Amino acid sequence: MRIVILFGSEMGTSETVAESLADELSAHDVSVYDMLDFDPGDLDPADFHIIVVSTYGDGDLPTGAEPFFDLLDATTPDLTGLRFAIFGLGDSVYGDSFNHGGDIAAEKLTALGATQVGDHARHDASTPIRPKDMARDWATTLPIPNSIQPA
Ligand SMILES: Cc1cc2nc3c(=O)[nH]c(=O)nc-3n(C[C@H](O)[C@H](O)[C@H](O)COP(=O)(O)O)c2cc1C
Repeated sequence: MRIVILFGSEMGTSETVAESLADELSAHDVSVYDMLDFDPGDLDPADFHIIVVSTYGDGDLPTGAEPFFDLLDATTPDLTGLRFAIFGLGDSVYGDSFNHGGDIAAEKLTALGATQVGDHARHDASTPIRPKDMARDWATTLPIPNSIQPA
């Protein structure tokens, strides 16, 4: 049992956030993966998942997350029992599509039986708050199950 951090990015900010989260949670057994290198078939309900994903286009998933979620849509694995938290990145200048990437990710996982836990984080690039600083604070609020032992 471990914490699995999956990031889906366009320009790399989400990767920075994922690394900060892993650092903050390093008392646990943590693994970080680029969604481009992670097969949805390897999702394990025994693990606690953190999804870090930005928003591009007109409220779309970033390029780095699309293959993962396309494969998820195509294979529709049963994710019952899988717990995940979302750290979304976006920019409020985009108005109604602000942070939709994280919302899309949460909807797709929930539709397959997974359960979202913790606060849904929505970083806003129009604020002076640095994504990795917000991520570190957010990490301390996550409901990490007791079954995930410190490393
Ligand atoms: C071309 C472009 C389109 C974007 N579209 C949106 C959007 O529709 N909604 C949103 O909230 N943020 C949008 N953003 C902001 C990014 O999601 C934000 O800058 C994020 O921190 C980037 O993370 P990344 O480097 O991991 O991809 C857009 C940014 C760019 C450059």
